[in-house]
Amino acid sequence: MQTKTTEHLSEKEMMLLEDQYGAHNYHPLPVVLARGEGVFVYDVNGKQYYDFLSAYSAVNQGHCHPRIISALTKQAAILTLTSRAFYNDQLGSYEKFVAEFFGYDKVLPMNTGVEAVETAIKLCRKWAYTEKGIALHRAKIIFVSGNFHGRTLGAISASSDPSSTAGFGPYMPGYQIIPYNDLDSLANALEDPEVAGFLAEPIQGEAGVIVPDPGYLKSAYELCKDRNVLFIADEVQTGIARTGKLLCCDHEEVKPDILILGKALSGGVLPVSAVLADDEIMLTIKPGEHGSTFGGNPLACAVATAALEVVRDEALAMNAAKMGQIFRKKMNQLKGQNDLVREVRGKGLLNALEINDSEDSSTAWEICLALRDGGLLAKPTHGNIIRFAPPLIITEEQLDVCCQIISHTINNF
Ligand SMILES: Cc1ncc(COP(=O)(O)O)c(C=O)c1O
Repeated sequence: MQTKTTEHLSEKEMMLLEDQYGAHNYHPLPVVLARGEGVFVYDVNGKQYYDFLSAYSAVNQGHCHPRIISALTKQAAILTLTSRAFYNDQLGSYEKFVAEFFGYDKVLPMNTGVEAVETAIKLCRKWAYTEKGIALHRAKIIFVSGNFHGRTLGAISASSDPSSTAGFGPYMPGYQIIPYNDLDSLANALEDPEVAGFLAEPIQGEAGVIVPDPGYLKSAYELCKDRNVLFIADEVQTGIARTGKLLCCDHEEVKPDILILGKALSGGVLPVSAVLADDEIMLTIKPGEHGSTFGGNPLACAVATAALEVVRDEALAMNAAKMGQIFRKKMNQLKGQNDLVREVRGKGLLNALEINDSEDSSTAWEICLALRDGGLLAKPTHGNIIRFAPPLIITEEQLDVCCQIISHTINNF
């Protein structure tokens, strides 16, 4: 049998191939992308779209940023992977750079976001036994409802979302789930002396860009400090300038005891994640107790260094803060004109519109199809919520065009 090459397949045939040969664990918007540059992606027919998802905030620096791609291709031709069985000439400099960049003693490099979450949980447990003095196998970690920390069993065991958990039990013991944005519940849970850590997203991205009340993070941090409990921030989606500061926790001047990063750490080029902590926590894990074949590989080190330099040198946090204010102002004007928009919320360039319809309606999905036709790609998070998260390099002129596309699409819906 002769197989058609990619160039000879129609858009429809490409989608059918994914459907026939790929697992059905996603429900993609029907558009087949073939190229990305800056804030734009292009489909197989050459049609241009503004990317308002940024691969779930991984492409903060814009698609195929020349400086990151140059670091990638340069290093790819020299050395890509050694494993951690040996030293490599990129890792130490990268570790120094990233630790100083975020203000921690040490970093533990991993690949995907969820692996970094798992790493943080393991570090927290180890610290509980070796430093805090909790009896072995008794340590508890507090999570909040509505969270999203990834798809491993360790992460879904903390989830309150049936689409993440149903049919995958039994779950990890030693977890407690309390309501988000609820300090009384946290204070209550912290009464238990076997609690070792509190792990939360500073804004819940997947839950639909749920922003907690001002002061929540700061007070939660202080409550944790009072009880000698580690405050662990999952900034996989909110970190690296997305919300208008380098870290979302910076909005409340909170320095997490354990910081979890992923996604934009590589500008969307490779899976690169990291866990940062000071020595008292990080040095509880000894050689042989944790690791990853690809974690800390020289290619990832070169790419992540360039990706962070771009965030710093192009002042992306400042741009995200400024563009985010303009975006929410225009979307609030739209809300004033159109009853379909129930709420506009977000920080920096992590924003969402809540559509005035039931959670199980298809309205948000259909609006996303209409936005696609208008040249802008976004995706519902949960039923009636559409997240808008463009690359942070977006200019005011581009944002104006995008706000017009969104307003026009929703007004004509
Ligand atoms: C807050 C948060 N944590 C963890 C993850 C998991 O990251 P990954 O898909 O790279 O494993 C995500 C992914 O969306 C996320 O938003």
